[in-house]
Amino acid sequence: MPIEEAHQLLNDWVSNERLRLHMKQVASVMKAWAIEKENANDHIASKWELAGLLHDADWEKYPDDHCRIIIEELERRNIDPDVIHCIASHGPGYFGVEPENTMDKMIYAFDELSGFVHAAALIRPTRYEGLEVKSVLKRLKAPAFAAQVSREDINDAIGRTGHSLEDIIQFIIDHQKTVI
Ligand SMILES: [Fe+2]
Repeated sequence: MPIEEAHQLLNDWVSNERLRLHMKQVASVMKAWAIEKENANDHIASKWELAGLLHDADWEKYPDDHCRIIIEELERRNIDPDVIHCIASHGPGYFGVEPENTMDKMIYAFDELSGFVHAAALIRPTRYEGLEVKSVLKRLKAPAFAAQVSREDINDAIGRTGHSLEDIIQFIIDHQKTVI
């Protein structure tokens, strides 16, 4: 699926701008990670990007069937099975599909943390500018901040990646700050 078609699907299915931004941010971080950390070529990097861009596409319209509907749609459109599995496994505690490869594990970690980092940026007058990892870590230790974000899921997701929480937060700060 060309990325333009994925953006079209996103615009058709998701009216909530914050949710669209969330998916664009995860897509940007996924693509950057594939290129910078996994030495991915354009084809592979575009799969990472696509998974990020569409992982919550059915959340707004079909909250009770989240994941199932977008997966059916992508299967109907003959999307790469790697992308479909990646989307299916982005919340193993909820959808019952385990992350297997690196792409699966990274979307799980980025999904959990991307919105949290964004929330931590939004409450600062200078937003992302000057946002440090330690201030995000401090917020993670404050249960009342973005209370809906499960710290348990974050720990689970990070533990599977083999990378440190600090490194992943820094990567997210660096790669989603320009996504608007
Ligand atoms: Fe998400």
